[in-house]
Parts: sequence; structure tokens; C-alpha cells
Amino acid sequence: MPEQDQSKEEKNFYLDIKAKSKAFFLKGLNGYDWGMQNRLSNIFNPKSGRTVMLAIDHGYFQGPTTGLERVDVTILPLLQYADTLMLTRGILRSIIPPTFTKGLVLRASGGPSILKELSNEQLAMDVEDAIRLNAAAMAVQVFIGGEYETQSIHNLTRLIDMGNKYGIATLGVTAVGKDLVRDAKYMRLATRIIAELGAAYVKTYYVEKDFETVTAACPVPIVIAGGKKIPEKEALVMAYNAVQQGASGVDMGRNIFQADDPVSMIKSVRAVVHNNLKPAEAFEMYNDLKKKK
Ligand code: 5RP
Repeated sequence: MPEQDQSKEEKNFYLDIKAKSKAFFLKGLNGYDWGMQNRLSNIFNPKSGRTVMLAIDHGYFQGPTTGLERVDVTILPLLQYADTLMLTRGILRSIIPPTFTKGLVLRASGGPSILKELSNEQLAMDVEDAIRLNAAAMAVQVFIGGEYETQSIHNLTRLIDMGNKYGIATLGVTAVGKDLVRDAKYMRLATRIIAELGAAYVKTYYVEKDFETVTAACPVPIVIAGGKKIPEKEALVMAYNAVQQGASGVDMGRNIFQADDPVSMIKSVRAVVHNNLKPAEAFEMYNDLKKKK
């Protein structure tokens, strides 16, 4: 039994201080419950409002992609610099140490390999396993304009329903088919559909022209994929332009783990995303770090 409270007269209820009600720091996500917002705060840095997600899920349809042949050798040294790791549950369980406590985004769709029609995906993971693995979010491809567009949309909405039940966020990924034009008009269409259907946040590709209209028209945060490997300087320019034009960070894979020096690259991307470092300075930082090694 707790001791009886003897000092009732001395209690302080701070009657002159109004209780605060603060908006959640991520756009469009005020309506979510505490658990979901807590998990999202483990993906996005509440100070900068942005994230550097390290994407290493490529093997789910590409097999041992260049740079991911031995995740234990090439990726483990990068973990300390990532805010969040995006990966499959297979790689998580087999290679990532459970002492990794930052945000986890689990790949939850799959099916076809690069040898088949990629849009023919289905859900490939149950929400219960995501909970068991302490995931912050689950990711699903959405093929707007693709052959199996409707199926991929149903994958998205089913995953959102399962995730919302338990406070696990859903990341909707715009997957651009070979024949589709990657321009702002297409990205606006795809990202808006994904957000309207209830994804907590959306991953898309950066487009040179009018990218700010893509982020403006999407009511929830957008992160950009890095896409195929380009020179380090160009990747830093892309990351800079994307965040300056409204993206809430990057979900970058190949342009980090296929860089000449992946550790220096992820550190430089962090400086661009979280500290608004200009691309020229970030590239200088990359070269300095690389030289020092
Ligand atoms: C695979 C994905 C990848 O996570 C995504 O493409 C990010 O990686 P990269 O920066 O290499 O493009 O969603 O479909």
C-alpha cells in the first residue's frame, strides 16, 4: 500500500499554465493514434522532420544486387548512419543484429522476379510478423498504369487496413514500369492516389521539373528513392533538390551502397537531408571523408 498523502495543502496544479496541445511534426498525420505517431518518429527525425532511410530490399525481386552480395560485409558498417532501414524480413532475421533499435520498414509485397511481369505482386507478409519484428512501417509497391494496377492497389489498401489496426504505418511505393514516363504529371497522379487511399507516407522518384508540385499535391510526407547509380555529386544534388522542394527525406539504396565509399556517402547524404548542406559542400565533404580513410 502506498503511504497516505499527508501534504494535500501543498499540491501544485500549476493553474496559471495552460496544458499544451501540439500538432504532430509530420504533415497530414495528425489524425493517427499515439502508437503510429511514435513509430513514425522512429523513422523521421523529429528535429529536422526528415529521414535518411537506407534501402536494401532490392533482393526481393533482383537477387544479390551489386553491393548487396554480402549484406553482412557491406551494409552492417552503414547502419549507424541510417535513420531507418528498409529491408525484407529474411535479411533482417538472418543478418541484422537485434541491437539495431532505429526504425525498420519491412518489405511486405513480392512475387515476380526480374524475369517476369513485376506489377503482378501480392502481399508477402502478415502484419503479425511485422509486429513480432518490431517494424515501424511496412512497404508495398503500387503500379499506377501498370498491367496489374488494381491488384497492387488492393495490396496497398489491405496492408493499410492491417497496419492501422495495430498502429503500423504503411509506406506506398510508386513503382514505375518500363513503359511509363517519369514526369511530374505521372508522379502527382501516383503519389496522390496512394495518399488518398490511406498510406501514411509515400516513396517516389525525383523528377527534374516541377517536383515541388508533386510534394505540394501529396497530403502526407514524400521520400525519394535514389534510383539507379549515378555519380556521387549528382546524387547529392538530387537529394538536396528533393528536400528543398518539399520531400521529407530519402529512401536511398544503390547511390549509397554502390558508391565508391558508402560510409562517406551516407554521411554526406545525412548532412544534405538534415542540415541543408549545399551539394557542392556536401561533395567536398564526401571527398574529404573518403581521403581521410
Ligand atoms: C525496390 C525499392 C527500393 O527500396 C528503392 O528502389 C530504393 O532503392 P534505390 O535508391 O536503389 O532506388 O523500393 O523496389
